[in-house]
Amino acid sequence: MQNRIEELKRSFVTSLGAAGSAESLEALRVEYLGKKGYVAELMKGLKDASDKKAAGQLINEFKTEVEDSIAKATEELRAAQIAAKIRGAKKYNPTLRAEAEFGSYHPITLATREVEEIFVSMGFTIENYFEIVDDYKCFEALNIPKHHPARDMQDTYYLDNGQLLKTHTSAAQNAIMKKYGAPLRAIFPGRCFRNESTDACHENTFFQMEGMMIDENISISNLIYFMKTMLSEVFKRDVKVRLRPGFFPFVEPGFELDINCEICGGEGCPSCKNSGWLELCPCGMIHPNVLREGGIDTEKYTGFAFGLGLTRLAMMKYGVKDIRDFNSGNLKALSQFKSI
Ligand code: PHE
Repeated sequence: MQNRIEELKRSFVTSLGAAGSAESLEALRVEYLGKKGYVAELMKGLKDASDKKAAGQLINEFKTEVEDSIAKATEELRAAQIAAKIRGAKKYNPTLRAEAEFGSYHPITLATREVEEIFVSMGFTIENYFEIVDDYKCFEALNIPKHHPARDMQDTYYLDNGQLLKTHTSAAQNAIMKKYGAPLRAIFPGRCFRNESTDACHENTFFQMEGMMIDENISISNLIYFMKTMLSEVFKRDVKVRLRPGFFPFVEPGFELDINCEICGGEGCPSCKNSGWLELCPCGMIHPNVLREGGIDTEKYTGFAFGLGLTRLAMMKYGVKDIRDFNSGNLKALSQFKSI
């Protein structure tokens, strides 16, 4: 028995050295460990052995040795194959020019920057503000108490902790008044959210640019002057606008500033709900309650505020017919704008 095992060991080592593929290793495994293999044959011969216990032990050792050697050879073969693949792979050359294409600015970014530049040149600072705010900032500080019907127009998304996604950039008015006090000139662009059904001119996510100017003797004339200057700078030509009364609890008096629809030229189309006009910039004189809530002395100061629809402005400026294109991620539409 012992001699036979020694003999098998030698022939196994020779065969293993010659096995250069997964298939030949498998064949070797079957030859030695398979049902009709050498190990099975040795087991059969066990009954004739004089010292069965010692012989059994020898067979087991041999079996383990064969198993381990085949497993090790299989693993080495796999590692060698991977190494060969890596060696053959295309080499990374850090000195080559990047093949990636450059992106382009989103039209809303372009419109935001343009309006920012205009207002900065008129002495306004740019403020950044959160997208998640509380009820106080979005409504109560703006003279919209709980259960006020004006809230119906601004249904939004509420978080479990009672906070909400801001429905308008006006949600920053109170914090900015408290931060700077009067006199004050600031604009604050931001993303706003409303629970709305979408169509060509409505989206649940859109951008506004709020502006506030608070000082002594600020009147409606100042408001109209700033709005006109901004629009003529953005469009680089005279655009037809109309001012009509509008109601917002945080301004008194309040206005809707509409712009002649640039897509249909005022004839009426889906982008302007067939009216020929687009509500672009609601505005008004800041309500004394709102100024007071922001810690401003209403005996001394007055101010105006506006909420420019940046998304709508970008639609008019760039002739985008459907507001949903902005959030679509459709590169065909978006990559037409100024590249980075
Ligand atoms: N926050 C208002 C809205 O989104 C717009 C607005 C801003 C009106 C400032 C007046 C003054 O509907």
